[in-house]
Amino acid sequence: MRFVDLIEKKRNGKELSKQEIDFWIKAYVAGKIPDYQVSALLMAIYFKGMSIKETANLTLAMVDSGQRLDLSQLAGIKVDKHSTGGVGDKVTLVLIPLIASLGIPVAKMSGRGLGHTGGTIDKLESIDGLQVELSIEQFIQQVQEIGLSVVGQSNDLAPADKLLYALRDVTATVESIPLIASSIMSKKIAAGSDAILLDVTVGSGAFMKDLTNARTLAEMMVQLGRNVGRKTIAVLTDMNEPLGLAIGNRLEVLEAVDVLKNKGDVGLTEFILDLAELMIQLAGEEVSRALLRDNLANGQAYQKLVDLVTRQGGSEASLIRPAKIHQTIEIKAKSEGFITKLDALELGKAAMLLGAGRKTKDDLIDYEVGIVLAKKVGDFVKIDDVLLTLYVNQDTAAEVYQLINQAITIGKIQKQAQSIIEVIGL
Ligand code: URA
Repeated sequence: MRFVDLIEKKRNGKELSKQEIDFWIKAYVAGKIPDYQVSALLMAIYFKGMSIKETANLTLAMVDSGQRLDLSQLAGIKVDKHSTGGVGDKVTLVLIPLIASLGIPVAKMSGRGLGHTGGTIDKLESIDGLQVELSIEQFIQQVQEIGLSVVGQSNDLAPADKLLYALRDVTATVESIPLIASSIMSKKIAAGSDAILLDVTVGSGAFMKDLTNARTLAEMMVQLGRNVGRKTIAVLTDMNEPLGLAIGNRLEVLEAVDVLKNKGDVGLTEFILDLAELMIQLAGEEVSRALLRDNLANGQAYQKLVDLVTRQGGSEASLIRPAKIHQTIEIKAKSEGFITKLDALELGKAAMLLGAGRKTKDDLIDYEVGIVLAKKVGDFVKIDDVLLTLYVNQDTAAEVYQLINQAITIGKIQKQAQSIIEVIGL
């Protein structure tokens, strides 16, 4: 088989066979195909797309490039959760302890943030001493003993995705629905859970800017999961404004702690309860919303986060330590009216420029800095009301203020924000 023939076939809009896709992935991981040829194929896929059959074959070829986690030693139905990325997304930090507090085991691998989006692993690392790198044996043993574990993605799972993602990142081929779907689902399938809840974000701060593409991606991923016998549900969720109030690693941990102590932003809390109900349904259990609320109010869900943190080397005190910053800067309203826009992309970029995120994969980040919103879309503000606070450790670039100005719109008509737009696969 000649790789150039595969490029030509896809360039001409034809379907690649399973044998061709297997050849591509095996040979690329073995270092036998140069990046320039794979880049050409990725660009052809970007323009010509892939059928569900091709995407399923690509997903499984990527799964087979590495190890598959065997979670069968853990009792019950194991449920995983994945978000396609956003700004202020601290859901995992709340949802996983909440689910574990009901006795449902959760073994979760998470990623780091890139660009304007945040990642759970960076948020966890803002907790002093916490280790996110565990061996697969330690990871499973921890779930057996305390019911939950959240660690970084093992290099042994879907190594083909790691190679391809790095290449997509520098060849402008990330935003392809079949490539995103196969990338996410190869890691989820290799990670071994029986059921998967996918949070597919839509809007300015998300990969998918419009509902039609988000729906296509969600449907494709649900199909890929079900093809291999995993119960899979996707929710389309709004990412036009940040999730909750905090953007930035330590600030988001503090907000997650507030939600776990039942003192969090109401919209964020209700959204997480919605996701929790779906996860519980996937686990085949029946738990009322009232019981979920009880576990927030009686400290049991928070205790599970404490268990996770202390078991992974962090201290309980560090969970509630305030952010270490030099200065806070309040941004105030210049006009009166309703907040009609709090753009997630611009605010995510502003937080990144403050040091909370990475422009490139190798950048160092400042875990302490970020932004805390005082208002959300739909709120009424008067002149000089505080809209948000910047938590900074270095001189604030003019570009940050520019982004903040562009991010916020105050208008005459009250707009209601919506968290879950649609559920796919129920
Ligand atoms: N997240 C992934 O893991 N892969 C993609 O391609 C996009 C988002």
